[in-house]
Amino acid sequence: MTFSISKSEVVTKEDLYATLARQLRVLLAGEHDFIANAANCSALLYHSLPDVNWVGFYLYKEGELVLGPFQGHPACVRIALGKGVCGTAAQLRQTVVVENVNEFPGHIACDSASKSEIVVALIKDGRLIGVLDVDSPSLARFDEEDAQGLNELADLLVAALEEV
Ligand code: SME
Repeated sequence: MTFSISKSEVVTKEDLYATLARQLRVLLAGEHDFIANAANCSALLYHSLPDVNWVGFYLYKEGELVLGPFQGHPACVRIALGKGVCGTAAQLRQTVVVENVNEFPGHIACDSASKSEIVVALIKDGRLIGVLDVDSPSLARFDEEDAQGLNELADLLVAALEEV
């Protein structure tokens, strides 16, 4: 699959995620504050990934997910573990790719424009930190390459973490 990022430039998803990883490394360099780093990560992804309408974080606090830094329309603030796509990914501690959110039992609709979604669990030293959630207005927007690319970005972010 290829993305057209300008009229003259076409890149593969692999190249796009490699570029994003380089850019994220620069943004994270020397900074350990998780909120600041997650905020910059959400802005980078929102403005670089084609065809997305929401990019952000839910942080695991006192047994539930609480809204963190994000880009997009305002979203629901608290999600219980096991609920929605985010709560499912957090409970399973796995990446969850949903081709059609309307077919996902218990999907939590924050933005009615969202049609597909990917959620990556953030784990540090076996501890659940939260999730990275990316929504798209297109069906089946995310595939295994996105899962791999976003997991690598999530690993960079978690590696820079000192304290939430
Ligand atoms: N759709 C998510 C909720 C968060 S919003 O998409 C920003 C879910 O089902 O967990």
